[in-house]
Amino acid sequence: MRAVDVIRAKRDGHPLEPGRIRWLVDAYVNGEVGDDQMAAFAMAVFFRGLAAPELTELVTSMIASGDVIDLAQVPGRKVDKHSTGGVGDKVSICLAPLVASCGVSVPMISGRGLGHTGGTLDKLAAIPGFRTDIDGERFRGLVADHGLALAGQTERLVPADRKLYALRDVTATVESIPLIAASIMSKKLAEGIDGLVLDVKVGSGAFMKTRADAEVLARTMIDIGTSMAKTVRAVLTNMDRPLGRAIGNANETWEAIEVLKGAGPSDVVALTVELGAEMLVVGEVASDLDEGRAMMRRAIADGRGLDRLRALVEAQGGDVRALDRRDAMPVAAHETVIEAPMKGLVTGFDTEAIGRAAMLLGGGRARSTDMIDHAVGIELLVRPGDAVERGRPLAKVDYNDAGRLESSVSTFLRGVRIGPGPVAPAPLVLGRLP
Ligand code: URA
Repeated sequence: MRAVDVIRAKRDGHPLEPGRIRWLVDAYVNGEVGDDQMAAFAMAVFFRGLAAPELTELVTSMIASGDVIDLAQVPGRKVDKHSTGGVGDKVSICLAPLVASCGVSVPMISGRGLGHTGGTLDKLAAIPGFRTDIDGERFRGLVADHGLALAGQTERLVPADRKLYALRDVTATVESIPLIAASIMSKKLAEGIDGLVLDVKVGSGAFMKTRADAEVLARTMIDIGTSMAKTVRAVLTNMDRPLGRAIGNANETWEAIEVLKGAGPSDVVALTVELGAEMLVVGEVASDLDEGRAMMRRAIADGRGLDRLRALVEAQGGDVRALDRRDAMPVAAHETVIEAPMKGLVTGFDTEAIGRAAMLLGGGRARSTDMIDHAVGIELLVRPGDAVERGRPLAKVDYNDAGRLESSVSTFLRGVRIGPGPVAPAPLVLGRLP
């Protein structure tokens, strides 16, 4: 087989014969096919897409490029959640222990943040000592003992995606729905799950800016899961505003802990309950969403979710004092407030700009090699619909490096829309699939 023939067939829109994609992925991972030809293939897919059998073959080949975690010996259903990425999205940290405490195991492998979006792994790293670099055996043990594990991707999990994603990043081929779907689903399906709930974000802070694109991505991922006998459900949620008040790392982890104490911001609580209810239905411990929601609310009220996270933090080597005291996690040296430049109504946000403002403080990465400052962040003090006077604080900023402040503040101010109104109500949950 020759890579050039596979590329040409895809370029010209011909269906690829079975086995072609598997050969290409294998040859790419073991170095027989180079970045040049794989980039050409990715670009051909960008323009031509992939038919369902081609996509299934791509996903199965990517999964087969590394280890698959075998959780068959762990009793009960194993269900994970994946979010397509947003600003202020700390939900995984409170969701996973709550769902585990309701009887569904959550083997969760998370990623690091890049650009304006944060990553669960960076937020968890704010807990001193918390280890997320755990191997498959230890991961399995944590799921068996605690009903959950919160870990990062190892070198051995879907190495094809690691290599291909880095290539897509520098060849303008990230924004391809079949390639995004294959990348996400290959990593999730390698976790040994029975089911998956997808939080597909829509709006100015999301990968998918329109509901139509979000629906296509959600359907593509559901179809991949279904073709592998997994139960996959998707919730389309609003990312036209940051989720909750905190944007950063330690501050977001603290906000997620507050959810477990019954004191979280209402939108973070609402999304946690919705996604948890879906997971409990997929995990077959709740007969419908209403029952799932009630179970989630009880697990918050009686502190079971918090107990579960405390046990896991201890098991993964973290300092459990971080669950009780904000100052047990990194705290920035300085704080200031950003004031409203004019009187009016807060009509909305350019959420990407708000995420970028937190990144510019050092709370995120412009490049994948950048270091994160876990202490810094932004606390939003206004929501859409709030009336503000000139000079009213819009946000509190925790910072360490004064040299980063100016660009962060000006980016933040570009991201807040103040005007005469009116402000249309924006639901958090925009739709569900299938
Ligand atoms: N997240 C992933 O894991 N892969 C993509 O391709 C895009 C977002």
